[in-house]
Amino acid sequence: MQEDMDMHPDVERYIATEDELKGIVARLGRQISADYKGKKPLFVGVLRGCFIFMADLVRACDIDCTVDFMVVSSYGQGTTSTGAVKIIKDLTENIEGRDVIIVEDILDSGNTLSYLKNYMMARKPASIRIVTLLDKPERRVAPIKADYAGFTIPDAFVVGYGLDYSEKYRNLPYIGLLKPEIYS
Ligand code: PRP
Repeated sequence: MQEDMDMHPDVERYIATEDELKGIVARLGRQISADYKGKKPLFVGVLRGCFIFMADLVRACDIDCTVDFMVVSSYGQGTTSTGAVKIIKDLTENIEGRDVIIVEDILDSGNTLSYLKNYMMARKPASIRIVTLLDKPERRVAPIKADYAGFTIPDAFVVGYGLDYSEKYRNLPYIGLLKPEIYS
């Protein structure tokens, strides 16, 4: 258990400590490495939220792989998804015939991943799977499921380990529940 003195004053409590995150990412790395043995998947990170999770995840994978990134925007400055997905930076790699693994920090309404999966399917990859660190199934609007999920969380506003509120808190090494007075 982490000491309270480590916790940011805007954070109410830990959702996942650094140690817990390490264990979760190691498990996901083992699963993906086993499933993709002998293959060379292309991890496609959806920035910006994925950047810390993806850096740790690829290091937890014991297989040859390559990486690419997309930048999309859905939330703006607020806390709820509008459903609109805007591509700000497209894929750099040609994904035709590749085994693609989309890497997300959080699967919430599913609008972002639903859009991205269809968008990538049109480019004829050999396969597409989704890995998300956090899954909020209660909030799902689009019919989308993660193939690999770190853990399920209730409908609460969480920050850290890449996740932001108004671009803040991404650098926290743990995932914490944001105090309601910060966003209300
Ligand atoms: C977050 C997250 C996903 C999306 C999930 O991104 O990284 O991309 O929201 O929500 P959805 O399932 O409701 O579509 P955000 O737009 O906050 O941008 P960020 O990655 O730059 O933090």
